Amino acid sequence: MIPQNNRLWWERDDLGYKDGQLFFSGKSVTDLIGLTNTPAFFYSGRRIAANIERLHNALSQLDAYKIYYAIKANRFAPVLTYIKNNCLCGADICSPAELLHAFSCGFERSEISYTAHAMTNDELRLLADNPDVALNCDSLSTIRRLGQFCSNRKIGIRVNPAMGIGYRDNETLRYSGDKTTKFGIYREQFDEALRLAQENHLIVDTIHFHTGCGYLNNQLSILNEILDATHWFTDKVKDLKFVNLGGGLGVPHDADDAHLDLDAWAAVIKSHFGDKGLTICVEPGDYIVKDSGILVLEVNTVEKKRATDFIGVNGGFNLAIEPSFYGLPCEPVVLEQKTDKMKPVTVVGNINESLDVWKDNFPMPDQITEGDPLVFINAGGYASSMMSNHCMRGQVSENLLL
Ligand SMILES: Cc1ncc(COP(=O)(O)O)c(C=O)c1O
Repeated sequence: MIPQNNRLWWERDDLGYKDGQLFFSGKSVTDLIGLTNTPAFFYSGRRIAANIERLHNALSQLDAYKIYYAIKANRFAPVLTYIKNNCLCGADICSPAELLHAFSCGFERSEISYTAHAMTNDELRLLADNPDVALNCDSLSTIRRLGQFCSNRKIGIRVNPAMGIGYRDNETLRYSGDKTTKFGIYREQFDEALRLAQENHLIVDTIHFHTGCGYLNNQLSILNEILDATHWFTDKVKDLKFVNLGGGLGVPHDADDAHLDLDAWAAVIKSHFGDKGLTICVEPGDYIVKDSGILVLEVNTVEKKRATDFIGVNGGFNLAIEPSFYGLPCEPVVLEQKTDKMKPVTVVGNINESLDVWKDNFPMPDQITEGDPLVFINAGGYASSMMSNHCMRGQVSENLLL
């Protein structure tokens, strides 16, 4: 927590300390907490808009592109209606319930892309009845069964290039790689996939792949190799109009991470697909919402056990599972900078599970006391949307700041 160049690594114009008080999205977090109980999520509409605008700016070096926000990252209805009403981008969906939710937040069929695995027949019928929703099929079974419910529908095929990408060298965040995964159609079944589509009068116009989550600048060379591998698939599709690269763009999680250079990222894409007359689609989730959200909890237990100083808070991994599942931290920060003196602490939640640890052996100001609020940054993506009521401690408010 000791500031470097007077700024901590995560501070930015709309998140940081002013006169020792934490501000988020132009508002004092102390004032925000005065309006609601904790646990509470706050999301910044302005940060979401800025993140999407940055994507548009970078992708504008391509002839044609589409952005679909992966709503699985955060489906809070005010967030979705904000994105829709401000015409920021479309929506990437992965279940019938998400589809209806997107409709209810105002998204038109033509603004939606749908990519799911292990789809039921009812789900396929729904997609057959909504031909303007872009659909990516990720298995032979999906293509075969979809053909029973419609014909002449345009489809995408989700492919698996057997290469993965993700945050640093975190294997658990890769959707594709040495280990065989459920995601997408491999090379050896691709010809059969095209044949099945043709037999069932389905028109393949999209190649889709999503090979992992959280990549930053150091992984752009891997992205380059993955795109290289996907030409094998795209070259075989005669009616190809779209290439959908999925999501996976990461945000910094600690002081060692740099922000993803979007111009460099778009340049990699352009070098592969820039001159082919194709529309490039992307469906980021985390990049759009993760750093747009904070989770405010309250310290209720400060206690030393053996050599470890524990700080217990009123919310656990049921509210934000990524820190314990994937080791992607939601870093705790204090509301008020009272001291520069730091000491290592272990911040834990209120769930009866051994994995319920927010941060282990982490330097925090040594004046944290019971009753203090603690703010967890990077809590806008895959936190509330993956939340559970484990131990019946799932009560939390969500608030969009405009
Ligand atoms: C098919 C697909 N597209 C997009 C995403 C969004 O990924 P991210 O939030 O890492 O950008 C996911 C995440 O699981 C996904 O499975």
